[in-house]
Amino acid sequence: MQREFYFDNKPQCDMWDNMWTARTIEQELEACDIESPPRDLFLGYLSKDERIVEAGCGFGKWVIYLHRLGYNILGIDNNEFAITKLKEFDDTLQVEAGDILDIPYPDNSFGGYISMGVVEHFEEGPHAALKEAYRLLKPGGLAIVSVPTVNMIRMIYRRPIRNAVKSLFGSLSILVSGWSKSKSGALYDAAERLLPERLRLLSGKENRYYHFAEYRYTRTELENFLIQAGFEIVETRPHDFYDSKNHAVGLWVDFPFLRVIRGTNFRVNILGRLISQVLDSISPWIACSSVICVGRSLKKSTPAE
Ligand SMILES: C[S@@+](CC[C@H](N)C(=O)[O-])C[C@H]1O[C@@H](n2cnc3c(N)ncnc32)[C@H](O)[C@@H]1O
Repeated sequence: MQREFYFDNKPQCDMWDNMWTARTIEQELEACDIESPPRDLFLGYLSKDERIVEAGCGFGKWVIYLHRLGYNILGIDNNEFAITKLKEFDDTLQVEAGDILDIPYPDNSFGGYISMGVVEHFEEGPHAALKEAYRLLKPGGLAIVSVPTVNMIRMIYRRPIRNAVKSLFGSLSILVSGWSKSKSGALYDAAERLLPERLRLLSGKENRYYHFAEYRYTRTELENFLIQAGFEIVETRPHDFYDSKNHAVGLWVDFPFLRVIRGTNFRVNILGRLISQVLDSISPWIACSSVICVGRSLKKSTPAE
């Protein structure tokens, strides 16, 4: 497991506000066409006759995608802004504001549970979220869970090298964005951003700059979490944007110099495209951003069911 921080002077709850206010639902939906691992698993495993819940749906790209295909899907997220936007986008969607650790539905309410990029954000681990998934699913129900992974590159390119590279890019971006407001302030903040994490902690600046963002789990760790929560593993795949030559989420996240300079949404430059194609042709596990796992609930049916 690798523990990731994000650099900001705001508390973690703002991470999602920052994310969703910077994007549009239309941009999010574009990913469904190039993100084949989850799409293929949803279409292959989930049934239109069963109720499905996406826990931590954010801007709801998969809720919209599956709803349009005729699936009975409910999206839940505790980010009020995202849920309001989703309701404005399409008032026929089933979406609710709520905490995925305490979903207000009885036991065995759903045949499918989707979690894309959510359970890694609990600093205490994914156990409570997966326990809630198990409670909500009927016997034999399916959980499809994706988390950022420790791919082969991330095993080698670890802290402190990754930290040093991130600090350098972070420092440059502070300098560029703060220069016009206050040259001395920008220089001070940029220099401080270069300090190693441990020194920043000593200087008392840790809370101002670094916040827990997520864990990255190995394939085995994710599978074991699901097994501990009462699931058997049906299938596990690497997860990235494999249906586009222009996107590579894992490389985009870890190597800022491979990003297309303007725009988000994980577009990589020519060098990034080349590296991505070579690595993926050897093995999709080398640079994938995430791992996605299908688990089947081993809950026993009671005679009444
Ligand atoms: C990385 S986003 C993923 C969004 C969506 N699943 C997707 O694939 O586009 C994580 C989402 O989880 C939500 N989230 C985190 N903790 C939550 C909690 N305890 N209850 C409900 N939603 C939560 C955040 O608000 C955010 O929208």
